[in-house]
Amino acid sequence: MKQGLVLDKVVLLGRTFEEYVRYFALDPAALRGQAILDVAAGVGSFCAEAHAQGLNSTAFDLIYELSLEEIEARCQPDLDQVVNAIGGLPTYRWEFYKSPAELRRYRERAYKTFLADYRLHRGTRYLTGKLPRLPFRDGQFDLTLVSYLLFVYEDQLDYAFHQQSVREIMRVTKGEARVYPLVSFEAKRCSYLDPLQHDPDLRHLRFEEVTTDFEFLANSNSFLRIQHGSSPPSP
Ligand SMILES: C[S@@+](CC[C@H](N)C(=O)[O-])C[C@H]1O[C@@H](n2cnc3c(N)ncnc32)[C@H](O)[C@@H]1O
Repeated sequence: MKQGLVLDKVVLLGRTFEEYVRYFALDPAALRGQAILDVAAGVGSFCAEAHAQGLNSTAFDLIYELSLEEIEARCQPDLDQVVNAIGGLPTYRWEFYKSPAELRRYRERAYKTFLADYRLHRGTRYLTGKLPRLPFRDGQFDLTLVSYLLFVYEDQLDYAFHQQSVREIMRVTKGEARVYPLVSFEAKRCSYLDPLQHDPDLRHLRFEEVTTDFEFLANSNSFLRIQHGSSPPSP
């Protein structure tokens, strides 16, 4: 019997710049001058807010083939579905958001900020395509972020999708990628994490799990850092 949030599809839910800073332990001042890619950015406002602060960010998502009106029509129903389901679940910690109403305010702020920016910058800041392929040059980005797509949807996205996506993300990233969270909606460590870090096809990459002080989905207080260069052999 599942205890966590049950979703039959990847939902359109967006986070804010502030939440990304906490998820990925980012130092905004250190991002200046870096080319940042937000993969599966959806209706999050990281890209819009980053540009407002003078940062260089590109957002990528399969929904950016849709018009503003088509995306807008999905925002509130997906948000209602999640906020209504989440309140009583044992798999969430409420220290940060305090209540479902405050969580809803964060998500609404994110998607409204996103929609205003998408209206102006679709096709330039907001680029479409579908993982496990990315429409970017080798090493185009210094830092790539992936929030709430890989690992957490392990019941819908298979191991091959994760492996190919990580390869492709690192093809377009010359610095490092960070992926968050590392648990499924059941708040359990994703079963792909260990095989991925020992996958012979990814031996050109180095993996590190970094602990943070942010936890909403239980046990989600860490992200995966991926860099070029192989990991030292385990003792
Ligand atoms: C839960 S949302 C996360 C949005 C954002 N990263 C955040 O944390 O606020 C997941 C996003 O993944 C996108 N997505 C799902 N499958 C994808 C794929 N194969 N390629 C690109 N984007 C995908 C969905 O369209 C959706 O916008």
